[in-house]
Amino acid sequence: MRVLFVDDEPCVLEALGRALHVAPCAWAVAFAQGGAAALDYLEKTTCDVVVTDMRMPGMDGPELLRQIRAKHPDVVRIVLSAQTDEGENLRAIGVAHQFLAKPCPIATLRQVVDRASAVRALLRGPIRRAIGAIDRLPSVPRLYTELNRALAADRASADELASIVRQDLAISARLLQIAGSAVYSRGGKVTDVRTAVVRLGGDVLRNLVLSAAVFEQARTSLRSTGLDIDKLQEHALRVAALAEAIAPRRGLGFGGGNGEAFTAGLLADVGVLALAVSAPERLRELNALAQAQHVPLHEVELAREGPSHAEVGGYLLGVWGLSDVTVEAVANHHAPKRNVGRDFGVGAAVHVASALIDGAPPDAGYVAELPRADIDRVRQILSARRGAPPAAAAK
Ligand SMILES: [Fe+2]
Repeated sequence: MRVLFVDDEPCVLEALGRALHVAPCAWAVAFAQGGAAALDYLEKTTCDVVVTDMRMPGMDGPELLRQIRAKHPDVVRIVLSAQTDEGENLRAIGVAHQFLAKPCPIATLRQVVDRASAVRALLRGPIRRAIGAIDRLPSVPRLYTELNRALAADRASADELASIVRQDLAISARLLQIAGSAVYSRGGKVTDVRTAVVRLGGDVLRNLVLSAAVFEQARTSLRSTGLDIDKLQEHALRVAALAEAIAPRRGLGFGGGNGEAFTAGLLADVGVLALAVSAPERLRELNALAQAQHVPLHEVELAREGPSHAEVGGYLLGVWGLSDVTVEAVANHHAPKRNVGRDFGVGAAVHVASALIDGAPPDAGYVAELPRADIDRVRQILSARRGAPPAAAAK
């Protein structure tokens, strides 16, 4: 794997070179001073991953990544930046697969690049071939794309965001249902879309709209599969809330790990919805079998050697452009040993939350490899929640 680092400051590139030399890894590395030099390099040499600074004279990081996306779409695009300005970061959403904050420990950088390559392998590899047999996967919800565009363009106003969401009455209704549910509720009732926008903020709004839109897409198809849409939605919210609660406050990039844990938990079973749309007969049969045998759906899926709903969901979110961390956590939520690294990250949080909400023990072998301090911390959180009054515990 070849990784290209781009920065306008030679001393930053030299420091990266030294750090990677001290901690050698399996990648070939190259360095480019500025966007133009990076594009030049990519014209001459194939490259798997680009890691770029955000603010550079001439061509900045988002513009460089936009051009790379157009000319070399298979290259993984990562931002490594000291910028914490939310407006600036928003410009890179949609063109960057992953954000990293400077200073970034070399172990974190290595893990992120390795994960990016594992996710690309997932998208290109055997799962893709298996999924090829499934007729059609749902397309990315239009409202989600529009919200992404509005959020990336500039600081969109609450009115603009609300007017985008209001275009679809069914999705608006489901968004309000989610935002006002006992499981999600974060202080006060949400009765209109604009309040939801203001209270939730752009990122959470976008994720909830994505979830609401996918549920709406699957509503009719789900009826024939024996699965209950309201139960699935409540389950998704409970996994999301628990994953967010147990994910560590430290994160791999801007915004920390908790928001991503919530998103990945919310979308962990999005593959079930995708299969309801794409292969309802198969889903109905497997769901009936799982119920008759009193085993979880993924066990029946794996016994049939088809892709599980987890893999279908991870694949779908990868194609839709969600972050590598989310894709990995969703694709592996029933097979956590496939996660890159053994820190207690988003993948671990979603696996543990999903298992506990399903009433099953998390994978003991995997958990044994996680840091002891994190396991103790999660135990404390869980016992505090058990001791809390029902409303707070549900949240
Ligand atoms: Fe699942």
